[in-house]
Amino acid sequence: METDHAVVTGDARELSLPADSVDLVVTSPPYPMIEMWDDIFAALDPAIGDALDADDGQRAFEAMHDVLDVVWEQLQRVLVEGGIAAINVGDATRTLDRFRQYPNAGEITRRMVDYGFDPLPDIVWRKPANSGAKFMGSGMVPPNAYPTLEHESILLFRNGPRRSFPPGDETRYESAYFWEERNQWFSDLWEMTGTPQGLDAGLRERSGAFPVEVPLRLIRMFSIYGDTVLDPFWGTGTTTLAAMLAGRDSVGYERDPDLRAAFDGADLLVTFNGKRFDVPFLEANFDVDLDLPHLDLMYTCKQIGLSGGLKQIEQDIGIERDRPDISGRDAVRLWKEHERGQDGSLETLISYNREDAVNLRTLADTVTTQLHDERFVDPTQ
Ligand SMILES: C[S@@+](CC[C@H](N)C(=O)[O-])C[C@H]1O[C@@H](n2cnc3c(N)ncnc32)[C@H](O)[C@@H]1O
Repeated sequence: METDHAVVTGDARELSLPADSVDLVVTSPPYPMIEMWDDIFAALDPAIGDALDADDGQRAFEAMHDVLDVVWEQLQRVLVEGGIAAINVGDATRTLDRFRQYPNAGEITRRMVDYGFDPLPDIVWRKPANSGAKFMGSGMVPPNAYPTLEHESILLFRNGPRRSFPPGDETRYESAYFWEERNQWFSDLWEMTGTPQGLDAGLRERSGAFPVEVPLRLIRMFSIYGDTVLDPFWGTGTTTLAAMLAGRDSVGYERDPDLRAAFDGADLLVTFNGKRFDVPFLEANFDVDLDLPHLDLMYTCKQIGLSGGLKQIEQDIGIERDRPDISGRDAVRLWKEHERGQDGSLETLISYNREDAVNLRTLADTVTTQLHDERFVDPTQ
């Protein structure tokens, strides 16, 4: 199934999308009053920086939500009637003037209702903290210790009356999920830990990315094949990845050009058969231009007499895999199993894909050295 994906480097407060062009919103904004987002909020409204400097937590909190509000207000226009907005956010605790909680989920709900959205039953996403030092406050002495926040919310809103479909609508029925998936996904408690993202540490730290399973579930729960999913706070594009996996179109907005241009820092693109497959695919489906030096190892391998697929060549030169039993064909099977709701299939598939990419570095080092040794005779020998 061919799907379309676009990413705009720009401010989500100025969504230039036509009315009724989006069927579902899945997003996670910068969280008000969580320190890692202070600079972004202050850049979007300097009064926020002033409020923080003055230790006026309530004023900063409200001003941060005023920034997000401009985005929420536009969702009503761009979402079709009955379209759903799924917003992942966590509350914040912080000591400015005094220690207190800043209830982001409640504040966003209040503001979305003001814009005419109907709140739907929401989901508690529990992310247990493992640290022994997670408890805050006065230790074992009452009354000034505080429960640790170990959950975030996935807030759900509908834009007016329910979406209507013709009776027996084929695409809608083809988009059905399994009974087991329904039972797990439509619980109001999701237990999931974060997944490491394939980014360098600095980028990862400031990306606040959610695991792909979160947008993937939401997309399959609240949209049908061919729908368009919007993420106005695109970050590292997890929602787009999930939309691709689920056969939906997507559009994203991201103000930080670094995130969209994750490829820009790369001096060299290394692939195996990427000239014919990966690059055209990425360019057609993501709004990226991979105009950088490209070493397609398939051709380099051929030059030194290594043929066959990537796995065969890895074996031939002694690169070992954690899961040597999984092949490209299994990858398709794993995906289908995941679609049928089998636990663990997606994780296995992602770790297989990660090995595919990581091993290219060793392969590149080995074959380029060998090619160099074959072609250039050492004059001192
Ligand atoms: C919590 S992160 C989203 C992470 C994303 N869900 C992922 O999985 O990578 C919020 C993102 O919103 C971006 N952002 C903040 N304000 C924005 C604005 N006004 N317009 C567009 N993007 C914005 C930030 O740069 C950040 O990347």
